[in-house]
Amino acid sequence: MLSLLRPLLAACLYLQLPGGQGRIPGYNNGFHYQDISNGNGNGEIYFNGVRLHVESPEPSVSATRGSSVTLPCHYHYEPELTTPRRTRVKWSWLPANTITAPASPEVFTRETEVMVAMGNRHRSYGNFRGRVRLRRSAPGDMSLVINELQLNDTGRYRCEVIDGLEDESVTVELELRGVVFPYYSQKGRYHFNFFGAQQACQDQDATLATFEQLFAAWEEGLDWCNAGWLADGTVQYPITVPRDGCGGVDLAAGLRSYGQRNRLLHSYDAFCFSASVKGTVYFLKHLTKLNFTEAVQACASDGSQIAKVGQLYAAWRLMGLDRCDAGWLADGSVRYPITKARANCGPPEPGVRSFGFPPLYLKFDVYCYR
Ligand SMILES: *[C@@H]1O[C@H](CO)[C@@H](O)[C@H](O)[C@H]1NC(C)=O
Ligand SMILES: *[C@@H]1O[C@H](CO)[C@@H](O)[C@H](O)[C@H]1NC(C)=O
Repeated sequence: MLSLLRPLLAACLYLQLPGGQGRIPGYNNGFHYQDISNGNGNGEIYFNGVRLHVESPEPSVSATRGSSVTLPCHYHYEPELTTPRRTRVKWSWLPANTITAPASPEVFTRETEVMVAMGNRHRSYGNFRGRVRLRRSAPGDMSLVINELQLNDTGRYRCEVIDGLEDESVTVELELRGVVFPYYSQKGRYHFNFFGAQQACQDQDATLATFEQLFAAWEEGLDWCNAGWLADGTVQYPITVPRDGCGGVDLAAGLRSYGQRNRLLHSYDAFCFSASVKGTVYFLKHLTKLNFTEAVQACASDGSQIAKVGQLYAAWRLMGLDRCDAGWLADGSVRYPITKARANCGPPEPGVRSFGFPPLYLKFDVYCYR
């Protein structure tokens, strides 16, 4: 950057900095460049290195939804400067769902601005407005504090320190602790185009999973033989035990990918990502079993709402909710969460068991959210 202007700016720096004592203070920005004066034959002028360092002790940070998180970033000069310089700091963001699909033309892959700061003035942008600040716990501390973390805040954040001459940056990855779950329509398998899948996850208090989230879920044992949309517009499914009908036995275990599909025309299921919820999900104790209408009413009478699928998964995975009684959920499905597998409570692994979408007049228990 600025390679043509640099010698000129270095000369300006010379005018501002004390202690030059006849030498032009050098400016080393990590790209060791040559003194242009070297060519003039007098050979007396050389640069002392002053270097801007930008660092983050944590390349990746994991947090929970709704909480505050600090993305660390510090800078300093080497050797230390005696006069403060006017540095600018810019935090920008590459959303998680765009990282894996750089080739997709529909996806906006450029980093977007989160915050810029200079001196005590700062400005935040878009969905981050009012939710972000710089920590400034010490000189050079430019760590970004994000409040009220949302599901779609995940991705790669870049801390860029600009000192007029040069800029240096580091990136910090933000992940949310959560759970990935496969989701299909009440109308049956493979009924969502991309936008339908997006909406379906949102309706369950979740968001379409990113590739990284599905991959992590696969590493933890998720095996699902139905293809679903991911946030980057690809369609994939996770297989831990290769078998016929699921990509075959010749393919190693892993994520099977159909690649990018047409977002309007092609239909699949969805992989949703849900993270911790603010309230609690609970099993409603009720004397009799309930049809769907009664279930919705029973939660309302208890001062809460019938729980959504994403909320039940989050409660199962993050809060250890364990209950061997099938209950209605808001989308008309019937499920129950098992963290300690046991006899008569489904398969020998933990999981959220599903009865699919039974007729709404059938009677079950209910899970509520408050
Ligand atoms: C992220 O989620 C929030 C809250 O659910 C929503 O208001 C916002 O529009 C979403 N942003 C994007 C880029 O999807
Ligand atoms: C559930 O039962 C009530 C009577 O308690 C009835 O009015 C309602 O129509 C039933 N709902 C369904 C979906 O069958």
